[in-house]
Amino acid sequence: MTDISVIGLGAMGSALARAQIAAGRSVTVWNRSPEKATPLVAEGAIVAATASEAIAASPVTITCVKSHPQTMGILQNASNALPGKTIIELSTGGATEAEDLAHFLEGAGAEWMFGIINAYPHMIGNEDVVLSVVGTEEQWTSHSPIITSMGGSSVHVGDQAGMLAALFAGLFTVRQGFMWGMIYGAIACKKAGISMQAFSDLVPISMGMMKPYYDYFAATVPNATYDDPPATMQTYAAALEDVLASFEALGARDELPRLFVDMANKGMAAGYEDKALTAIIEVLAQDRAD
Ligand SMILES: NC(=O)c1ccc[n+]([C@@H]2O[C@H](COP(=O)([O-])OP(=O)(O)OC[C@H]3O[C@@H](n4cnc5c(N)ncnc54)[C@H](OP(=O)(O)O)[C@@H]3O)[C@@H](O)[C@H]2O)c1
Repeated sequence: MTDISVIGLGAMGSALARAQIAAGRSVTVWNRSPEKATPLVAEGAIVAATASEAIAASPVTITCVKSHPQTMGILQNASNALPGKTIIELSTGGATEAEDLAHFLEGAGAEWMFGIINAYPHMIGNEDVVLSVVGTEEQWTSHSPIITSMGGSSVHVGDQAGMLAALFAGLFTVRQGFMWGMIYGAIACKKAGISMQAFSDLVPISMGMMKPYYDYFAATVPNATYDDPPATMQTYAAALEDVLASFEALGARDELPRLFVDMANKGMAAGYEDKALTAIIEVLAQDRAD
């Protein structure tokens, strides 16, 4: 028996296995293409001949392959080894596939946790790396030492297998909002003859204002407490109208500022003029334009 098994030894799975060895655990590994196990065996891992043998060798198995359907294929062929075991699935994947896999594991008598890795393989094991994981509170308590060996700042975010796809979509949308915001901002500045260097140098200074906004979400949205904001929705709506007018005056494409104006107007129409901008979540969370 070993402490932990790792199935999938691509760039990420190999890094995860290495972090477990570095944490002092005995590790069994298996990969579809067996040659990828060779460097890990040299570092102290034991190689299993089959996925089933790898799962049987340890109470907990980490899986990290292409995505959930590939994990499902591997585990269906190894279902004899699953009863009583815990699988921590760290492949990236969609909500429906995650729920299917969780359902299969429960039917096979295994426990599950799922996680998404916010890091590149060379960062695995660092103190500031975050794996966002779902599973029960009890599983988090039992298995957080294994998880924090791979990412020291890992967090438990819920208990539904499908939640991580939404979390990924949410965080990716924030990053994309920033990137597309820069693209549209650059279009306006370019049309106005402002140098891209001047624009790019001012972006981090301007973004410094955004820092309190992270906390502002957590402070306002959970209890719908949108009163006495530092700037009201009405203030934002007026500023956004001015921004849209500037894009129009420049003859610049204006899809993004127009979207912002439309959204703020929805909030105003719903009666949130004097509330915080975050109050728009109350409107948009219910209102899907199909
Ligand atoms: N690399 C990153 O920066 C990063 C960051 C965050 C999350 N992730 C996630 O980590 C997971 C693995 O990524 P990676 O970078 O390690 O990819 P990778 O280097 O391409 O490795 C893919 C792994 O999946 C295995 N695999 C693929 N299809 C399979 C199948 N049908 N049956 C059995 N095994 C199969 C491969 O086995 P073979 O060796 O036999 O082909 C290999 O072990 C992905 O879900 C990815 O989204 C990666």
